[in-house]
Amino acid sequence: MSSFGLAIALLLLLLSLTSPVLSCTSSQEKGSLLRFLAGLSRRGGLPASWRSSTDCCSWEGIASDGDGGAVVEVSLASRGLEGRISPALANLTGLLHLNLSHNSITGRLPPELLSSGSIVVLDVSFNSLGGGLGELPSSTPDRPLQVLNISSNMFTGMFPSTAWEKTRSLVAINASYNSFTGEMPSSFCISSPSFASLDVCNNKFSGSIPTRLGKCFGLQVLRAGQNNLSGTIPDEVFNASLLEHLSLPNNGLEGKFDGENVIKLQNLAVIDLGGNQFSGKIPDSIGQLKRLQELHLDCNNLSGELPASLGTCTDLKIVNLKGNNLNGQLRQVNFSTMLNLQVLDLMLNSFTEEIPESIYSCSNLTALRLSSNNFSGQLSPRIGNLKSLSFLSLANSSFANITNTLHVLKNSRKLTTLLMANNFIGERIPDDLTVDGFDNVQILTLDGCSLSGNLPLWLSKLTSLKILDLSNNQLTGSIPAWIKNLNFLYYLDLSNNNLSGELPTALMEMPVLQSENFQDNLDNRAFELTVYIGSFAYRTLYNFPTVLNLGRNKFRVQSLQRLVG
Ligand SMILES: *[C@@H]1O[C@H](CO)[C@@H](O)[C@H](O)[C@H]1NC(C)=O
Ligand SMILES: *[C@@H]1O[C@H](CO)[C@@H](O)[C@H](O)[C@H]1NC(C)=O
Ligand SMILES: *[C@@H]1O[C@H](CO)[C@@H](O)[C@H](O)[C@H]1NC(C)=O
Ligand SMILES: *[C@@H]1O[C@H](CO)[C@@H](O)[C@H](O)[C@H]1NC(C)=O
Ligand SMILES: *[C@@H]1O[C@H](CO)[C@@H](O)[C@H](O)[C@H]1NC(C)=O
Ligand SMILES: *[C@@H]1O[C@H](CO)[C@@H](O)[C@H](O)[C@H]1NC(C)=O
Ligand SMILES: *[C@@H]1O[C@H](CO)[C@@H](O)[C@H](O)[C@H]1NC(C)=O
Ligand SMILES: *[C@@H]1O[C@H](CO)[C@@H](O)[C@H](O)[C@H]1NC(C)=O
Ligand SMILES: *[C@@H]1O[C@H](CO)[C@@H](O)[C@H](O)[C@H]1NC(C)=O
Ligand SMILES: *[C@@H]1O[C@H](CO)[C@@H](O)[C@H](O)[C@H]1NC(C)=O
Ligand SMILES: *[C@@H]1O[C@H](CO)[C@@H](O)[C@H](O)[C@H]1NC(C)=O
Ligand SMILES: *[C@@H]1O[C@H](CO)[C@@H](O)[C@H](O)[C@H]1NC(C)=O
Repeated sequence: MSSFGLAIALLLLLLSLTSPVLSCTSSQEKGSLLRFLAGLSRRGGLPASWRSSTDCCSWEGIASDGDGGAVVEVSLASRGLEGRISPALANLTGLLHLNLSHNSITGRLPPELLSSGSIVVLDVSFNSLGGGLGELPSSTPDRPLQVLNISSNMFTGMFPSTAWEKTRSLVAINASYNSFTGEMPSSFCISSPSFASLDVCNNKFSGSIPTRLGKCFGLQVLRAGQNNLSGTIPDEVFNASLLEHLSLPNNGLEGKFDGENVIKLQNLAVIDLGGNQFSGKIPDSIGQLKRLQELHLDCNNLSGELPASLGTCTDLKIVNLKGNNLNGQLRQVNFSTMLNLQVLDLMLNSFTEEIPESIYSCSNLTALRLSSNNFSGQLSPRIGNLKSLSFLSLANSSFANITNTLHVLKNSRKLTTLLMANNFIGERIPDDLTVDGFDNVQILTLDGCSLSGNLPLWLSKLTSLKILDLSNNQLTGSIPAWIKNLNFLYYLDLSNNNLSGELPTALMEMPVLQSENFQDNLDNRAFELTVYIGSFAYRTLYNFPTVLNLGRNKFRVQSLQRLVG
């Protein structure tokens, strides 16, 4: 991406050095701008400076070349503009740079702008433009367009597929977050040797990935996720050997993750093929992608063991293999070399045996999810080496010895989310205060473990706790009065246990029940990984409902009535 960024910077530099075309003070330039203004129904603060009596080069958002020449730039991003874009803008024959992004402009994009003989950068992203773009006229002279950003609008219909041979300087197209249909665009690959970035994600493109993309020899970024693409990734695409970012998640793609092809893309930093139907093994050759930082292969049909070579991708930061049929031992991979690893998600696979010690060398890990596998054994005390670990899920993975687990985890001071449901089956929950630490834990789940014992005293020290799920165990005894001291607790599920006795009045004193707008202060930042509890998925603390579930226990009925009454 860096060389692409450089190209854009150079381009902006060039824009400031161009020679005069027409005088800015000419009535035609001014007239075109005023017609554009007239097309807007809400004009932000523009009319204050855009007065016909003044030199239009001094108007807000307008730049001219050097000494009062032609209008070369119209930069009106985030001005609160509404209404339509007048085709009169295309009459500014020296206009190089048009930026109307982040407004609320509606209607169509005038075709004159797309086929302009002067515009180099056209950015109308983040508006409410709609309709189709039509085809580009083939009769026009060459178009200098380099950057087209029409993302986050409401465009529909097919993407123009003809006459791109007039646009030889094209560098980047961002058409993401629209509703384009038909075949994914690629015609410009043939005629634009400098083409480097194509983003068409979040549209309704269908059919297969065009083989023509392989002719985009300069392509660095290809993003086409969240469409309806099908078939395999054509061999030709791997001719685009400069690709750094290959992102095709959530389509209907299938086929093998081909090892011989993938090593042709030595510059790959990001691979995202999640949410498709790729099958077969993860190839050994992946270890040759030395620049790889993110590997997202989640929710596919991959099988077999992890290739040992993964450990040689030492730049990896994110490895997401959730929801496949991967199996075998994790020990295959020597994680000690992957010191940049921040997120490792292995949820819902069939990995077996112990967690390899080498994982505990990845001291930059912030999120580790091992849930829904078939691991065995106990966690090593070396997990305390993971000083940045904030999210840990061990749920549903045949872990044993809850006492040991809690003791080894108490050194993980940064933990905020600790998910351990469906493990430790039939064990007794320790209740002494030698279990400590966990000062920052906000979400704790230990449901479905058939645990016996009382609600343990050490829980009373988890003062950051917001979400606590101990449902579906065999806990006995009563609810202790210290429950009200958990000041931030707003999701408490104790259902389906053997708890008994009176409900303490302290329950009524829980801050969540005392305050009406308790949830207003909740953090709405996304978790490192989505939290799954039961059949629900939560992305932020804000997504959790307020819950106090005491059902299916053995509480005395009178006390329930007192609580409600
Ligand atoms: C553009 O300029 C031409 C010639 O001056 C004029 O006839 C035409 O109406 C203008 N177009 C728009 C959309 O203002
Ligand atoms: C348009 O303006 C916005 C806001 O200033 C900016 O983020 C964006 O990069 C600009 N577009 C181009 C192509 O320079
Ligand atoms: C539109 O895309 C171009 C090219 O990628 C980029 O330079 C520009 O910043 C984008 N505009 C916004 C508002 O993000
Ligand atoms: C395209 O635009 C979207 C916003 O609409 C942005 O999130 C995305 O990063 C852009 N793509 C590229 C390759 O810059
Ligand atoms: C997705 O593509 C398939 C063919 O590949 C087509 O049958 C189906 O109608 C498309 N679905 C949508 C929602 O466009
Ligand atoms: C592109 O890839 C195809 C299939 O892999 C191959 O046959 C062809 O020779 C390649 N073309 C170029 C120009 O490299
Ligand atoms: C998943 O892969 C296996 C082979 O590994 C294959 O037999 C099965 O049909 C695939 N399932 C789907 C839904 O593609
Ligand atoms: C794993 O890698 C580390 C660091 O490179 C090395 O010291 C260790 O011997 C390796 N372990 C195995 C089992 O290969
Ligand atoms: C861990 O991350 C920090 C910054 O987040 C970085 O400076 C450091 O180099 C990383 N450590 C390793 C071993 O990669
Ligand atoms: C538990 O893990 C197994 C795979 O080991 C999976 O099939 C099952 O759906 C998981 N159950 C829950 C409740 O997540
Ligand atoms: C889990 O592993 C044990 C042996 O370690 C095996 O007996 C059991 O069948 C495995 N369960 C699943 C669901 O793979
Ligand atoms: C569980 O862990 C504790 C503390 O580490 C240890 O004393 C005990 O022997 C372990 N129990 C079993 C069954 O492994």
